[in-house]
Amino acid sequence: MKKPVPIESLSEAQARREHARLGEKIAAHDKRYYTEDAPIVSDAEYDALRLRYEALEAAFPELATPESLTKKIGAAPSEKFAKVRHRVPVLSLGNIFGEEEVADFVTRIRRFLGLSPEAPLAITAEPKIDGLSCSLRYESGKLVQAATRGDGYEGEDVTANVRTIGEIPHVLKGAAPEILEVRGEVYMTHADFAALNERQKEAGKTLFANPRNAAAGSLRQLDPAITAARPLHFFAYAWGEVSALPASTQMGMIAAFKDFGFPINPLMVLCHSAEELITHYRQIESLRARLGYDIDGVVYKVDSLALQNRLGFVSRAPRWAAAHKFPAEKATTVLRAIEINVGRTGALTPVARLDPVTVGGVVVSNATLHNEDEIARKDIRVGDTVTVQRAGDVIPQILGPILDKRPEDSKPYVFPEICPVCGSAAVREIDPKTGTADVVRRCTGGLVCTAQVVERLKHFASRNAFDIEGFGDKLIEQFFHDGLIKSPADIFTLEERERRGLLRLTEREGFGELSVRNLFNAIEVRRTLPLNRFIYGLGIRHVGETNARRLARHFETFEALRKTAKAAQEGSEARAEINNIEGIGETVAEAVADFFAEKHNEDVLDALLDHMTPVPMEAVASASPVAGKTVVFTGSLERMTRDEAKAMAERLGAKVAASVSKKTDLVVVGPGAGSKLAKAAELGIETISEEDWLRLTGQDT
Ligand code: IVH
Repeated sequence: MKKPVPIESLSEAQARREHARLGEKIAAHDKRYYTEDAPIVSDAEYDALRLRYEALEAAFPELATPESLTKKIGAAPSEKFAKVRHRVPVLSLGNIFGEEEVADFVTRIRRFLGLSPEAPLAITAEPKIDGLSCSLRYESGKLVQAATRGDGYEGEDVTANVRTIGEIPHVLKGAAPEILEVRGEVYMTHADFAALNERQKEAGKTLFANPRNAAAGSLRQLDPAITAARPLHFFAYAWGEVSALPASTQMGMIAAFKDFGFPINPLMVLCHSAEELITHYRQIESLRARLGYDIDGVVYKVDSLALQNRLGFVSRAPRWAAAHKFPAEKATTVLRAIEINVGRTGALTPVARLDPVTVGGVVVSNATLHNEDEIARKDIRVGDTVTVQRAGDVIPQILGPILDKRPEDSKPYVFPEICPVCGSAAVREIDPKTGTADVVRRCTGGLVCTAQVVERLKHFASRNAFDIEGFGDKLIEQFFHDGLIKSPADIFTLEERERRGLLRLTEREGFGELSVRNLFNAIEVRRTLPLNRFIYGLGIRHVGETNARRLARHFETFEALRKTAKAAQEGSEARAEINNIEGIGETVAEAVADFFAEKHNEDVLDALLDHMTPVPMEAVASASPVAGKTVVFTGSLERMTRDEAKAMAERLGAKVAASVSKKTDLVVVGPGAGSKLAKAAELGIETISEEDWLRLTGQDT
């Protein structure tokens, strides 16, 4: 490199030209280094370019425009990460709180598999790392893509950033499978976290609340150079798509990951009973403070992959694994006020406003008080000093008041009987069957209550429903209060109204051409939406994601659901059809019928369907020979338990019904079958044995 001209002797025009030239060079090197993984200069040469670039800006401050590469750090994201669809969904884990539940976990597994108490069952135990999970895809041994978990189905493409994490191999060692998706946790150590916050403080930037936020903030940077400057680590503990499994056990898989070059956690062990799991849990807990990184529990996993396969999943969590969380952390503080939130279904939820206090590394200033009875039972009063508890990701809660510190003039809290938002009566419904009052007090205002309407809109646009990117709670509230949207259909007419000059969104505070364009694009792509997400987005009471999937799988089209639901008065055949869907009971069937019986909901739906179309739910294993079929199991099964059979059928895309009807396609019959077999014969429905079923579904190994 030729010796650079001293900066003092440069004219402004010369400096400007050199600055522009350097900027282009640095950007090109960044691209080669971070996204193409093929740098052509040494780190030292690169650093020299950066230093010179910065020095030019220091001497000629007018060069430090908002577009400067030095300004990219900490700049607001101007573009978004690309989305990555996970070929195998990223799962979550069911939680275990307390040692008593460990034995339940093991018993549940044994029962599901039909194992006797004496039959051996190996389960691994390892720390639950408190970072953020990441899925790394290797093809022919090369890292080709890295994605965050996202909603489990779709994450963000963070490949360029992950390439800057030294511990993550770019090329695998040994004979790795052709396709290998390794999953694990990206985390930051306590020491690096403290040093990073120190640097943030010196630079006058905001501090990170904990190492997990710091790791997440560092990985989800639009500029990979920032990620590169943040010390991140990785532990491999799971996998997604794999062309050929290198082992048949969890332990074996992790050992293989180690051979391929991944860091693995040294505290993973193989246990053979609930007692051994608990012993290892205590061991890990005793080491927790000295590990140097955050963990929030211990994860248990059935070791045999064949058994994992048989156990399958409930909703998004595997039956074969669980997270045993460490006990919650506690602190005391003063309760300043009790505020009432009104939710989507009109539920009045009391929220405690607290003097901010640090609980387990996180500053807490709000906590849930659950409900009216809970406040009364614990006699929690405004002004009390209270104990606050925080466990994992759950909302902090108030355990109770410290009576010695109660102010003398304090009075018991009186729960409001009118809705604080709309003034309608708020009542506790009486269950007609039991005659007891619901624990939840609800506003009776329905659509008169703006709180309920806004909450419904938020739910509609939320991540697991319509997932309208960039249309978050705050914006929805503003748009609603400014009269821009009143019902879901209005979201789809925003662009049209803007074009006609009715809205002037670009003139809104904090809104520019680009953000408006992005919002319109995000809305546009949701003009088609998988049926299950559509149903979930409607916010029907008791219809969460799982029930929405069940309804979508059963009815296949929205028209079919609507037609049946409208005819589903109590005692009708239509009601029985909904009720008969596996996993759905009378409470849900009633809620679905009630929703469609409401004229207003019909209007909202018609308006919405003018602008968008629900499409079939993404087919689950549509290649399987039983996909889309309705199956009934009857009699006793010998090679698998009933739960296992049902779970397997659902995994293969079949619907499992509890009773035989005209809609049944197949009845799997075991010894001792009675009335259901007779009914199948009467209706002329195909019946097969358990062996046939295993053969048909390719499980007869
Ligand atoms: S296994 C099928 N193992 O916990 C199970 N997860 O609550 C897939 N996590 O999203 C996960 N340490 O981010 C597993 N040793 C560990 C873990 C771990 C941390 C996280 C992971 C996951 C979340 C589930």
